[in-house]
Amino acid sequence: MGNNKFIEEDFRGYKQSTLPKIDEVLARTDPKTACGEYLRRYWHPVALTSEVSEIPREIRILGEDLVIFKTSKGNIGLVHKACPHRRASMAYGKTEEEGIRCCYHGWLFSPNGEILETPGEDPESKQAKKLRETFKLGAYPVIEFNGLVFSYLGPMDKIPEFPHYDSFEIPGNTSSPYRIDYNCNWIQVLDAIMDPLHTSFLHGQSSGIQFSEGFAEVGEIEFYERGIQYLGCNTRRINDNVWVRVNELILPNFTQAGAAFAADGTKSKYFGRSSFTRWVVPIDDHHCVALAWANFGERGDPIEYDNQEGYERIEAGEISNRTKEEKQQSPGDAEAVEGMGSISSHKGEHLMPTDKGVMIYRRRTRKLIKDLEQGLEPPQPQKKKGEVVRTNGQDTVLKAPKRGNNDREYVKSICSSVMNMQFDLEEMPLKERDNSIIKNLQQMEARGNFD
Ligand code: FES
Ligand SMILES: [Fe+2]
Repeated sequence: MGNNKFIEEDFRGYKQSTLPKIDEVLARTDPKTACGEYLRRYWHPVALTSEVSEIPREIRILGEDLVIFKTSKGNIGLVHKACPHRRASMAYGKTEEEGIRCCYHGWLFSPNGEILETPGEDPESKQAKKLRETFKLGAYPVIEFNGLVFSYLGPMDKIPEFPHYDSFEIPGNTSSPYRIDYNCNWIQVLDAIMDPLHTSFLHGQSSGIQFSEGFAEVGEIEFYERGIQYLGCNTRRINDNVWVRVNELILPNFTQAGAAFAADGTKSKYFGRSSFTRWVVPIDDHHCVALAWANFGERGDPIEYDNQEGYERIEAGEISNRTKEEKQQSPGDAEAVEGMGSISSHKGEHLMPTDKGVMIYRRRTRKLIKDLEQGLEPPQPQKKKGEVVRTNGQDTVLKAPKRGNNDREYVKSICSSVMNMQFDLEEMPLKERDNSIIKNLQQMEARGNFD
């Protein structure tokens, strides 16, 4: 048999057999890497409150091996794992009222790393006294909030205010903390939020319906870049309704979307809020964790999903603990992003117009990393001190039957009217803003005029 057929068909396996390079700038977050420094300018959740107890727990965040514990007085400490005496692991330490005591020679450290006791040394020892006064175990400040423990791992002279988001204060909302671990680099997990198109395929057409029927529709995709807030809208025509679904990223890693189960575009909905309020935090270059609240209530998802299975479905469209066959039949976000490998070969991507959200947020992140290398501190989510950060992740479903021949343009224009109206109300006090958005949406719908 001749080979001409194969040559003509231009098989390219050999030509493309070397793995393209990874994006070193975005993927590396260990101490002293450029992106690692950038992320060390923000508060991040590092654990669930329920994971922290008087039994020390080893965690890794941004490539650092740490130990988190609670003293018997209830203070939380987050410290370097290695004892500064002779490097024994603090994970084997014993917690007490004042701090944690190393198992090896009994040194006692407070949650802020102060060396309180060096009991094996002569009490008169000048050397031990001097060390206690001048040296500390590496430690980080923590804030425990609503079931999540946040920490700031950056330089202390740059510590920002702990940001409050409007989604912390949605009346009638029940927020339950959860964590989902991923075996891949943080950028792969973060990308999905700025990729609203994947919901139509991964969560609709490829895997069967993971959330609701309407997800399988491919909508009109639009992106907004507003300071460090990025919004990706997927606006779908569902019979006589138009469903505006908004995914949200506030740099560096805060994410929200619309509801997971309570939105399908068939019933009117006015500024429904996100099923999750979530941060994607690097553990090391090959692992990351989504630490989040799952939100339930009238404007979020039904409370019956308030359980581990519900959190997994909200987070990834599917539950985590499945056989390979089940995962192949119905892949969720974890399969999509971990399947790329523990660090994706970014330089082998072919980004398309629908990947604009991914492109613009990555580009901006690279810029902020570079700026920081040159001494310019990255912006924080709150513009003014004490400000509650306004967010836009949502579902809005409005009755808007097809009008004229160009329905795609009409659907697009509804999305931009809804978003611009919300942006115009941004400066309003929180509660007023919420109520005004809802009222305006209802009025737009009643008028049938979305200009
Ligand atoms: S190694 Fe920790 S006290 Fe000696
Ligand atoms: Fe997804």
